[in-house]
Amino acid sequence: MSEDLRTPHAPVDPEADLPVVLEPAGALAPGSVTLIIPTFNEAGNIAELLSRLAAALPAHLPCEVLFVDDSTDDTPAVIERAALQCAFPVAVLHRESPAGGLGGAVVEGIGRADTDWIVVMDADLQHPPHLVPELVGEGARTGADLVVASRYIAGGSRAGLAGGYRIAVSRGATWLAKGLFPRALRGISDPMSGFFAMRRAAITGETGGAGGTGGTGGTDRTGGTDRTGGTGATGALKPLGYKILLELAVRRRPARVAEVPFVFQDRFSGESKSTAREGLRFLAHLAALRSATPLARMIGFGLIGLSGFVPNLAALWLLTHTGLNYLLAEVVANQAGVMWNFLLIETLLFRDRRRHRHWADRIGRFTVLANADLLLRIPLIAVFVGSWGLGVLAATALALVTTFVLRFAATEALVYLPRRKAGHSDPS
Ligand code: GDD
Ligand code: MN
Repeated sequence: MSEDLRTPHAPVDPEADLPVVLEPAGALAPGSVTLIIPTFNEAGNIAELLSRLAAALPAHLPCEVLFVDDSTDDTPAVIERAALQCAFPVAVLHRESPAGGLGGAVVEGIGRADTDWIVVMDADLQHPPHLVPELVGEGARTGADLVVASRYIAGGSRAGLAGGYRIAVSRGATWLAKGLFPRALRGISDPMSGFFAMRRAAITGETGGAGGTGGTGGTDRTGGTDRTGGTGATGALKPLGYKILLELAVRRRPARVAEVPFVFQDRFSGESKSTAREGLRFLAHLAALRSATPLARMIGFGLIGLSGFVPNLAALWLLTHTGLNYLLAEVVANQAGVMWNFLLIETLLFRDRRRHRHWADRIGRFTVLANADLLLRIPLIAVFVGSWGLGVLAATALALVTTFVLRFAATEALVYLPRRKAGHSDPS
């Protein structure tokens, strides 16, 4: 990927290089901030955004702005020009290949930041710039690692969310996400928000955050049993599409969260880049987050396997009605179920592990394993009945469970794990 980081207005603040003093929770100087703003063709919003930010940022809050841009128009040039008027540092990172979309852009920005706080906001002025100091201030006051600007608490609203349809979709998505991640999203009323402040240490896992000591307000969530600090069990950030806050809340589990109400404004200029496709990416993102552990993946694998009965039986019905011999039809119909399972497993379960093998290789291996499962079951039942003395039903149930677990393990190992290179093993 070719990319260039241009800083038209070089960071000149000498204070920024001083050692960071650990602030006690409740201190009013919250430390320095990187404002990460993802842009995709937002030329018409830049000047207004920067001027409102200039008006909003108080002198005691050293702040630099980093636009992470995937535009196909002249947005980067417009930013560079507008930056010359700014009293704070403004940089543009233009990406030639927009990996991960909006979420991927934010993660790239986070990787470049070196400040205590990171604030993420949209460029279209739907997120009021005057709230930036308030988000960081609330974090400093309460000791929270994450402060979310929420439309769903008293004082907030979604005025700018056009139409009943979008409101319903947004509500449904929130409900679904909170249902799937009740603990990770505890204390976050608006996990779909794209406007939030987070301590950088809580994202990188460097210190485990400064929160939880004597702050007032916020939701302390350290009591949970599923906290995985840093790059623990939940691993590296792999955002998919728009919901970067969801990604951070679920994979990083900030110990303490707080919220600040906000009114979602109308877009200042241009139009939304969100599409129906983005909705599908959101579902895939939820599935990827939910299946981060082997047990969860195995459950997903089982549920997908069960759903495969539908295309299997449908194909069987179709084939027998065209007059095909029923045994032959069984074999062919089974392949319909296998293909259905393959597609769902590829998109929902192993999406980020597809790159290790060519798709034809994956399909071939998956199909062999799925059919081997059937072949293995009969001799296994014979052993369970003949040598172990189990009843036929119990033997069949045990064989089903055994071949299922074997098939799951074999699918992970033989289809979706990185190949072992001669001489050294892959760390992932
Ligand atoms: N770099 C980059 N790459 N930026 C992008 C991309 C991309 O592929 N797609 C969108 N953006 C930028 C836009 O330029 C804008 O600054 C911001 O991300 C949000 O995009 P919009 O297209 O304005 O999104 P929206 O208004 O439909 O959705 C916003 O509100 C939702 C709540 O209803 C976002 O904040 C969502 O995250 C949020 O869930
Ligand atoms: Mn928008």
